[in-house]
Amino acid sequence: MRSDLSERLLFLRSFVAHPRRVGAVLPTSGRAVADMLAMADVPAARLVVELGAGTGSHTGPLLRRMAPDARLVAFEIDPAMADALRAKLPDPRLTVVTGSAEDVAEVLGDERPEVVVSALPFTSLPHGLGRRILERTAQVLAPGGALLVLQYSPLIARDLGRLFASVQRRVSPLNVPPAVLYACRDPRPGAPGAPR
Ligand SMILES: C[S@@+](CC[C@H](N)C(=O)[O-])C[C@H]1O[C@@H](n2cnc3c(N)ncnc32)[C@H](O)[C@@H]1O
Repeated sequence: MRSDLSERLLFLRSFVAHPRRVGAVLPTSGRAVADMLAMADVPAARLVVELGAGTGSHTGPLLRRMAPDARLVAFEIDPAMADALRAKLPDPRLTVVTGSAEDVAEVLGDERPEVVVSALPFTSLPHGLGRRILERTAQVLAPGGALLVLQYSPLIARDLGRLFASVQRRVSPLNVPPAVLYACRDPRPGAPGAPR
C-alpha cells in the first residue's frame, strides 16, 4: 500500500516536471495491462522489450508471464523511475536501460524481440520522436513478432497502419481514462521501419 502510494507520487512528480514526456497523471491500471498483454504470446517470447516502463505497471506482469529463461529489456528515460524499477524488481531476467527508446536498435544489436510493449505518449512527444521510435521498433521486431501499444488518443492509428500490415485494436474501458490498445504485426515492406 505504502509502496503503491510512493510509486504514484514518483509518477506524478515526473508528470509535473515533464507533462508531455510522461503523458498521464497515473500509471496504467492492472486491468488495462492484462487486456494489453493478452494480445500477444508473452509466455512464448525469448526476448521482450518495454518502451517507457515508468513505475513498472507492465514490467511486473510481463515478468510473471515470461518463461524462466526469457529476458526483458525495459527502457525508461527518467533516471529516478528507472532506479526505482531496478530496486522494486531485482529479477535477473530484467535489464532496465536508463535512456531513450529511440536507441532501441543500438541497445539490442542483432537481437530481435518477439514482443515489444509500449505505453509511450506518442502524440505528445517532441515532433518526430514518436514516429522515429515506431519506425526503429518495427525494424527490430522478430519475424512474426508483435508491437503492443497503449494510447489515450486514436491519433496514432494512422502511423501504425502506415508501418504495419496488421493492426488489431481494442478498448480497455475501465482504465481511467479508457485506453485504446493496438497489436501491430507484419511491418509493411518498403515502409520506413521495414526490416532490412
Ligand atoms: C504514460 S507513461 C507509462 C508508464 C508505464 N508504462 C505505465 O503504463 O504506467 C510514459 C513513460 O514513458 C517514459 N518516456 C517518455 N519518453 C521516453 C523515451 N523517449 N524513452 C523511454 N522512456 C520514455 C516516461 O518517462 C514515462 O515513464
